[in-house]
Amino acid sequence: MKLVICVVFMLLGLSHSQSPDECSCPESCPEISCPAELRVRDRCDCCETCLGVEGSVCSEEIGRFCALSDHKYGFSCVMDPTGKDRYGECHCKHPKKGPFCGQDGVTYKTKCDLQVASWMRVKRNSSKVDVAYHGECEELPILTRRPGNVNNRTGEKVYLACEAYGIPTPHITFRKITQLEDESEMFEEMPSDRLNMAVQIRGGPDKHKISAWVLVDPLMNEDAGLYECLASNTQGSVSDKGYINIIH
Ligand SMILES: *[C@@H]1O[C@H](CO)[C@@H](O)[C@H](O)[C@H]1NC(C)=O
Ligand SMILES: *[C@@H]1O[C@H](CO)[C@@H](O)[C@H](O)[C@H]1NC(C)=O
Repeated sequence: MKLVICVVFMLLGLSHSQSPDECSCPESCPEISCPAELRVRDRCDCCETCLGVEGSVCSEEIGRFCALSDHKYGFSCVMDPTGKDRYGECHCKHPKKGPFCGQDGVTYKTKCDLQVASWMRVKRNSSKVDVAYHGECEELPILTRRPGNVNNRTGEKVYLACEAYGIPTPHITFRKITQLEDESEMFEEMPSDRLNMAVQIRGGPDKHKISAWVLVDPLMNEDAGLYECLASNTQGSVSDKGYINIIH
């Protein structure tokens, strides 16, 4: 008899505390900041809440869930193993290592990120995105610094500079273009065998950028002319030209 009373008491006790199935909507919904496509109704259908992606807070208690939790490349709510934080963090369940280039031409760090982007697009009535290929999306080089023109006296030290960006990182070459009498052009790869010329190339200043210079020291009369900077990668090449003029 004692035991029965005790059990009844425990059941009563339980029903008094808020059970997870019980819903009571707050008077006003909290402000949320996430893209419209990541908004869903919370478990109690009271308010809109944000679906969490990599690293964002999750907890049923505050109505924050992880995106695509039923999908292989979705996110699950991982609790802090030390138990210090009572909220969890969304983490990609199978973080297939990227980057991946999506069919939309955007680079995604993981397959989970691509999956979320695809899902958001479908919500916008746009077509879904699949992996186009493994790795960053390739981009045709662009010149971020052009050689320009240099005017100086013989005996001085001058340079033509060129800087390019592209994925994969481009390589840069310089050539001198000489117009021949029969109107054809002669190309001479720099620094050629000229003792007063050097080509310097170094990566940077930013990722996927490369900087290059033709250094001329001392400037001589035969160095005057048209020079071309050519930046190339797997996607193609771009070029621009600049003159070295001798002033007397
Ligand atoms: C997507 O299409 C559906 C049905 O055609 C429409 O009801 C909905 O408003 C559209 N959503 C957006 C974001 O355009
Ligand atoms: C010529 O080069 C020198 C040394 O690089 C530089 O100090 C000078 O300003 C240049 N002159 C002209 C006209 O650009």
